[in-house]
Amino acid sequence: MKNLIITGANRGIGLGITKVMLSQNHTVIATTRNIENSGDLQNLKNKYSKNLKIVRLDLTNKDSLLSFSKKIPFNHLDILINNAGIMEGNSLNIANTDKTFQVNTLGPMQVTQKLIKKLLNSNSAKVFFMSSKMGSIADNMSGGHYSYRMSKTALNMFCRSFSIDYPKIITMALHPGWVKTDMGGPNAIISIKESAVGLSSLMLKAEKNMSGRFFDYNGNELPW
Ligand SMILES: NC(=O)c1ccc[n+]([C@@H]2O[C@H](COP(=O)([O-])OP(=O)(O)OC[C@H]3O[C@@H](n4cnc5c(N)ncnc54)[C@H](OP(=O)(O)O)[C@@H]3O)[C@@H](O)[C@H]2O)c1
Repeated sequence: MKNLIITGANRGIGLGITKVMLSQNHTVIATTRNIENSGDLQNLKNKYSKNLKIVRLDLTNKDSLLSFSKKIPFNHLDILINNAGIMEGNSLNIANTDKTFQVNTLGPMQVTQKLIKKLLNSNSAKVFFMSSKMGSIADNMSGGHYSYRMSKTALNMFCRSFSIDYPKIITMALHPGWVKTDMGGPNAIISIKESAVGLSSLMLKAEKNMSGRFFDYNGNELPW
């Protein structure tokens, strides 16, 4: 059984992955910005009291990042899933871009940095970055969404470099599909469950030769 941490686990894809991993007996630390308002996570805690710990984390707040890292009880961490993300606006807005980079790019980078020792203590460490096809330069045929696209492209580059610098850790960028969440909207193509089941299976099976690469929830490789 694996020890894992997932960010942005109170709703959407993060909550979906948390449910799948708990149902398979893994031990999950699920982060949320607001524990009191995370009803779905609280309900899961009632069902999986031993295997689930809920920890507060706001990726835009330095104190939150620091206190989060001090609350992790694991000596070794097998799987880190940097899932939390935002998509704000579709215009040339610098304030939006600044915030989006903090949550989507610098946040995952800082979380990974704070957990690196625990990851290196694991014999089978894996780090996943929830990216998006919208961060693929090769796939961009429709333009727009500057801040979101740029933040995920930069995240992909961090993922690639990190995979080279830490060959012991299997590191991958993932695209969850177009998923019916608050972010994906009602016109999205797949359910949270379908995405979460596919992603969880891919993450648990991921092997060394997949490190430093970009895959969708079905295991299809994507162009950077
Ligand atoms: N849905 C899609 O179709 C789709 C497609 C491609 C990629 N993705 C990526 O998949 C990931 C999950 O997306 P989703 O669709 O599940 O989104 P979602 O339903 O909007 O959920 C986003 C999660 O991120 C958390 N979050 C937002 N700002 C945060 C912050 N400052 N600090 C910590 N957590 C924060 C949210 O917490 P609160 O509840 O507190 O806001 C929530 O738990 C994201 O990285 C997204 O970019 C999604």
